[in-house]
Amino acid sequence: MSTPAFDPTKAYKRFEVNGAFLGDGREVALLEYVYSRPDLDQLRGNPSRVLQAIDEFARTHTGLINVGEIKGAIVCDTIAKYKPAIMVELGSYVGYSAILFGNALKKAGGKAYYSIEKSPLFAAISTSLVDLAGLRDTVRVIVGTGEEGIMRLHKEGVLEPKVDMFFFDHHKPSYTPDLKVCERLGLVGVGTVLVADNMIQPGNPAYMAYVRASVAEKRELDKESTEKGNPNLQYRSQFIKSFDPSGDEDALEITECVGVEA
Ligand SMILES: C[S@@+](CC[C@H](N)C(=O)[O-])C[C@H]1O[C@@H](n2cnc3c(N)ncnc32)[C@H](O)[C@@H]1O
Repeated sequence: MSTPAFDPTKAYKRFEVNGAFLGDGREVALLEYVYSRPDLDQLRGNPSRVLQAIDEFARTHTGLINVGEIKGAIVCDTIAKYKPAIMVELGSYVGYSAILFGNALKKAGGKAYYSIEKSPLFAAISTSLVDLAGLRDTVRVIVGTGEEGIMRLHKEGVLEPKVDMFFFDHHKPSYTPDLKVCERLGLVGVGTVLVADNMIQPGNPAYMAYVRASVAEKRELDKESTEKGNPNLQYRSQFIKSFDPSGDEDALEITECVGVEA
């Protein structure tokens, strides 16, 4: 996949404001901004218009740590290619990726998009914007950490027979342990695709090493690890350079489970 150039006229404002990247009131301000727009009725049931409104806020008010248009397009292409029936996202924030990818999954004939978010406030904002976009039938936002959300959904039986695609975009050190939880529960199988964000900003060497390790290497590491996954899963992984929505270089790691070694 080639990296399209970044258009500076579309840049979000810098994410950092007085040392904060999120949670300083900007997310509630976004919600108020969206619901006070004069074109609100045209946003109802229209995922693209809701995303445009979120982008507009982040370009003119305060930056938001969304996946953004450029990396988002790469994930949408991946959804169109693999056509997941069930997709799970870890890290919903204000619902930008849930709306973008939930809509792409729906268009590709998919069934359900589960978006897990640790902050109850962000989860409420995400739920509200998903609802505004008309995606309530496809996207469900779950409050909890990645592990709690996965365990709860697994217990409900809604992730059967497996999860076709994951989007990891939450607490960076939790990517590998949360992936191992999914492996342990049997939610990763041949054909499952793992998409992981922020491979440059800020980077995630532990996760990259794990999805690129051979089965033999993982079996060896698994012996000493307290967090057990399924070391027998064979992954094929690709590093895809792109840009975050403020114009800084970033990358996605896209990994496919291609086999299970006996
Ligand atoms: C980068 S933002 C997600 C952006 C979103 N995926 C998008 O592109 O629109 C990361 C989110 O992960 C949430 N988070 C942090 N730790 C988490 C955890 N352990 N489990 C689930 N969510 C977590 C944060 O509250 C934040 O909303």
